[in-house]
Amino acid sequence: MLEKIKHTVSFIQSKVEYTPEVGIILGTGLGGLVNDIKIDVSIEYKDIPDFPVSTVEGHHGRLIFGTLGGKKIVAMQGRFHYYEGYPMTTVTYPVRVMKYLGIKTLLLSNASGGVHPDFEIGDLMIINDHINLIPNPLIGKHDPEFGARFPDMSDAYSHVLIEKAQTIAKKHGIKTQIGCYVGTTGPTFETPKEYQYFRIIGGDTVGMSTVPEVIVARQMGIPCFAISIITDLGVPGKIVKVTHEEVQEVAAKAETKMTLIMEELISTL
Ligand code: HPA
Repeated sequence: MLEKIKHTVSFIQSKVEYTPEVGIILGTGLGGLVNDIKIDVSIEYKDIPDFPVSTVEGHHGRLIFGTLGGKKIVAMQGRFHYYEGYPMTTVTYPVRVMKYLGIKTLLLSNASGGVHPDFEIGDLMIINDHINLIPNPLIGKHDPEFGARFPDMSDAYSHVLIEKAQTIAKKHGIKTQIGCYVGTTGPTFETPKEYQYFRIIGGDTVGMSTVPEVIVARQMGIPCFAISIITDLGVPGKIVKVTHEEVQEVAAKAETKMTLIMEELISTL
């Protein structure tokens, strides 16, 4: 895999002259953060050797290089999910590529269903832990080049970054929740009992992404920070039908607040 990564990286480096400091992965309906980036180079996934292409509505397929919060960044407008049929090594391939491009921090966003009874639609939740119910992306042959065979996950979401983000949110009067994200395969949304089960095992939200990318980033020693937008509720008495279109709509509405936090957080790095 290393050879393949190096090939992808050298293609990208032939188009971009600098080393990005921060990587950003944008979730469903959250691609608008790109409007705040002073863009230098944008490369379609389909033009990048060995890169997958995203097949999901609401996910563009571009790698964007530019400046945000005064730092050079690389942003993925569109990510890959296990439910698209990709092996987990492919889902997480771009994270490895970003590491070899030189990123020192990874920021992620996603849309999720809230299972905490106090959560409301449109809330932002800072992720401070996860429960992985998707196959682990590190299963398979181990290459010590990438890090440990058995990576520590006690600080999967950097406490330092979480504290900084909370301070930023408070300063701007942005309400944030904090909690545990359960990563599931999808592509179905949950039955009422499945939502209840995710609450019982310790989840506050549930979604179909982020966890694989964080696992791979942590194996390689990259500090991670992630925000989830609550787009629907899996709380007894509040469960209504969910559609992908509604998820995108709610996410887009909450996006400005998320972008503000991300941008200011980057400026402190
Ligand atoms: N479940 C799983 N994934 C999701 C949800 C949900 O309710 N909402 C947005 N992504």
